[in-house]
Amino acid sequence: MCGIVGFVGRRDAAPILLEGLSKLEYRGYDSAGLAVRDSTGNFEVVKAKGKLKELFDKTDSGKALHGTMGIGHTRWATHGEPSETNAHPHISGMDVKDSDIIGVHNGIIENYMEMKTKLLRKGYKFYSDTDTEVLVKLVDYYYKKYKCPPCEAIAKTMVRVKGSYALAVMFKDHPDEIWAARKDSPMIVGISDNETFIASDVPAILKYTRNVYYVDNMEIACLKEGSAEFFTIDSEPIEKELVEITWDTEAAEKGGYEYFMMKEIHEQPRAILDTLNSVIKDDGDSKKIDFSGIGIPDEDIKNISQIYIAACGSAWHAGMAAQYVIEDLARVPVRVELASEFRYRKPILDKNGLVIIISQSGETADSIAALREAKEKGVKTLAIVNVVGSTIAREADYVLYTLAGPEIAVATTKAYSTQLIAGYLLAIQFAYVRGMIDDEKYAYYISELYALPDKIEKIFETKDKLQWFAAKFVNVHDVFFIGRNLDYAVSLEGSLKMKEISYAHSEAYAAGELKHGTISMIEGGTLVISVLTQPELFDKTISNMSECKTRGAYLAAITAYGHYDIEDTASFVSYVPTADPHFMGSLSVIPLQLLGYYLSLARGLDADKPRNLAKSVTVE
Ligand code: F6R
Repeated sequence: MCGIVGFVGRRDAAPILLEGLSKLEYRGYDSAGLAVRDSTGNFEVVKAKGKLKELFDKTDSGKALHGTMGIGHTRWATHGEPSETNAHPHISGMDVKDSDIIGVHNGIIENYMEMKTKLLRKGYKFYSDTDTEVLVKLVDYYYKKYKCPPCEAIAKTMVRVKGSYALAVMFKDHPDEIWAARKDSPMIVGISDNETFIASDVPAILKYTRNVYYVDNMEIACLKEGSAEFFTIDSEPIEKELVEITWDTEAAEKGGYEYFMMKEIHEQPRAILDTLNSVIKDDGDSKKIDFSGIGIPDEDIKNISQIYIAACGSAWHAGMAAQYVIEDLARVPVRVELASEFRYRKPILDKNGLVIIISQSGETADSIAALREAKEKGVKTLAIVNVVGSTIAREADYVLYTLAGPEIAVATTKAYSTQLIAGYLLAIQFAYVRGMIDDEKYAYYISELYALPDKIEKIFETKDKLQWFAAKFVNVHDVFFIGRNLDYAVSLEGSLKMKEISYAHSEAYAAGELKHGTISMIEGGTLVISVLTQPELFDKTISNMSECKTRGAYLAAITAYGHYDIEDTASFVSYVPTADPHFMGSLSVIPLQLLGYYLSLARGLDADKPRNLAKSVTVE
C-alpha cells in the first residue's frame, strides 16, 4: 500500500527521502509528498499527484529543500480521490505555517468519521477527505489539551482510533525528533552513524543502513540523530534488539517471499479484514453493514428488480460467486456476463435493474464499455473497484471499494478475494433490507465473514502438502477442475490461476456438465481437481468424480475438514476449515491459488509476470 520514509541526521533530508520513496514505488501509489523541517524550525511541504518524478521535478531532486530532518510518503488512495490535497504529509492546522504537527500514515483509520465529528465540534477545520488528516489533528488535540509530551499525545490517540496504522509525525516544538507509532501496519527504524531512518519497508533505507529495529504493534518510537527510543502505550521504555538485514533489495521488496504473488496470497487475510471494516460499523452492541459511504439508498435496494453483473477474467469469476450468494440470500435474480459480450449484445435492461461492474484496476476497457452501455440505458450502476479514482470508480453511480491494496503480480489473488467479500456484503445487506433475513441471521452472516481471515491463515499451514502435490504433477498436460454451484464458480478461478501462470492446459466445468461431452477427454492419468464445499451437493459431485475415476483420471479434491470419506474416492485431498456454505469459496480458492503458484514454481516460471499477459487490460 502506501510507503513511509523518515530521516533525521546531519545531511539534507529531502534527497534521502526521495531516494527512499523511489525504492517503495513497487508497492503502487497515486501521489507523493514530503515535509522537511528547516534550520529555523519551519516545515516545508511539497506534494504532487501522479508519479514520483513530479515530486523530483518540483523539488529539483530534493535540492530545493534544506533541512536535516523530514518525512515522506507515497499514497495509495483509500479515503478520498488521488489528489495533491489528499496526498500526505498532513498538517494539524489549515496552513503549514500555523501547524504544530505534521504527519504521514499508512493503513486505515476505521472510526475516522467519528473522530472527525468530535474534532469539528472542538473547532478543528479540515481541508482533505483523508483519515490521515483526522489522525494528525487528533494527536494535535491531545497534545494541546493535556499539554503532555509527544509520547503521551500519541498514546492517547492510539487508544481512541480503531484500525491499522504506521504513523510518523514531527512536532514543531520538538526539534530533531521524529515520533512514530504502529498497529498492524509494518514499520522499521534504521540506525547508522549519526543518522536515523524510519520506513514502512526495508528497501527504502537499505542503501543507508542494514541495522534496523522492528517496531511492534502498539509501540511508539522516538527517533533522534543516530539513536532511537521505544515506548509502550503507557510510556514505559522498551529495550529492543538491533537486527541486521542480510537480504538484497529485490528480496526485501517481496518481504522475503520469492514472488509478489506469494506475498499477495499471504496478504489476503488482512485485505479481507480491511474490506470488511471499511463498511461494517460496530455500534457497541452489534455490527452492521453501513452502505452510506456507497450512497445507495435502502429504497433503491428494495426496488431492485434484477441484477446484472459484468466483468472480465477473475473479476467475472467473483461475479459468478456473487450470483449464487445474492440470489440465495436476497432472492433477487442475477445474471452474470462477460463485459466483452455484454457491451455488444444490445442488452435489454430493466429500468429498475442494477448493473454491477467488478474490476480490480477500474481501467479494463471492456468493463468500462459495459458500464457506459448500462448508463446510456438509464440503469443504475454500482462498481466494485480496488483502485480509488479509476475510470470505473469515477463513472459509476455507486462505488464499493475493495481494500486489497496495490496488486503487483499479474495474476490476481488478494483483489479477487476482496471482490468475493464485496459480493457477500451486497448479498447480506440486500437480503436484510429486503426483509429476507432477520437480525439473528444477519448477525450470524457478519460473524462468519469476520471468521474468514483466521481460517485462511490456517490453510497456509497446509502449503507444504500442496507444494509436494504440484511437484508430483510438474509435467501434467491437462487438468480439469470440477464443482457444482459455488464450487463451480471457484473452480473457474482455480483453473485460470493454473493456466495463466503455469501454462498447463486446464478447464473448469460444472461437474454435472462433464458427461455432456468433455468426459471424452478423460483418459489414464488426466488430473481432475474437484471442489466440494456445498453440503447439499457433496454426493452429486462425488458421483461425477467416480465417473472420471473409472476412465482412469487421477482425482484430487478440495473439501472441508470432517468430510474424510472423500478419501475413499480421491487420491489427494486438501482440507480447509468449515464456514457458512455461502462463503466457502473464500477458503477453497486458497489451495487452488497455491497449486497454480507451486506448479509455476516447479516449472521454473516467473509467477509474477506470465507470458502474453498485462496487469491492466486497457484495450479491447
Ligand atoms: C487473472 C486476472 C485477470 C483480471 C481481468 C480483469 O488473474 O487478473 O483475469 O481479473 O483482466 O481485470 P480487472 O479486475 O482489473 O478489471
